[in-house]
Amino acid sequence: MNIILLGPPGAGKGTQAQRLVERRGMVQLSTGDMLRETRKADTDLGRQVADVMDSGGLVSDEIVSAMIDAKLAALPAETGVIFDGYPRTEAQAHSLDDLLAKNGRSLDHVIELDVNEDALVERITGRFTCASCGKGYHDIFEQPAVEGVCDKCGSTEFKRRPDDNEETVRNRMAEYRAKTAPILPFYEARNLVTRVDGMADMDAVTAAIEAILG
Ligand code: AP5
Repeated sequence: MNIILLGPPGAGKGTQAQRLVERRGMVQLSTGDMLRETRKADTDLGRQVADVMDSGGLVSDEIVSAMIDAKLAALPAETGVIFDGYPRTEAQAHSLDDLLAKNGRSLDHVIELDVNEDALVERITGRFTCASCGKGYHDIFEQPAVEGVCDKCGSTEFKRRPDDNEETVRNRMAEYRAKTAPILPFYEARNLVTRVDGMADMDAVTAAIEAILG
């Protein structure tokens, strides 16, 4: 099964993708995670990617589609894929069609997480992750069971993203409205889109997604 999780910054794409990985053994392909790896490198590309991400803009279609191409080619055909944060433009949507066809795959569902943007700033600015295993948390909505200790791996190191400040978040939302939301009709025309209430609590969102996937 191949699915796209679509929604603005903070809609819960990464949270729900992680849950599907744990429950269904699917693989999460997050272009945001891939770009965060790329920006760590002390190279021209790393610096270029970091500048774009910190401004809240979109990295070039060629760069992100090449990343997805490489990841998909390395996966066994029977492994289900969750596309998290990709595609984000019309050009990327067309590239994804080509890449899926090249790998003998097809798209089963596009799940749109429907959210109230005003609430998202609070979600994003409260977010942090385990520095060791990457498990996601939130200052209010998802705290570790023992304060300062990761539930999953026991690490006591946590980190926050440099682009999770209010100004950058507002730019990221504007990019979503201008460039990503307009690709929905492309998938609606193929009857692939199902909307899920992304403002419900995390377990309810997971249950709604599970019901769609069957
Ligand atoms: P990316 O990393 O993809 O960020 P994003 O799309 O802005 O999405 P987020 O990761 O911020 O949010 P999310 O929807 O995953 O929410 P989460 O589950 O974490 O991209 C970052 C940047 O990389 C982009 O700005 C761009 O520059 C670049 N980039 C990436 N892909 C690109 C592409 N394809 N093309 C070009 N450029 C690209 O949840 C957020 C918080 O809310 C968490 O703390 C969570 O615990 C909490 N939460 C989640 N669900 C709920 C709920 N139901 N109730 C309460 N709290 C919740």
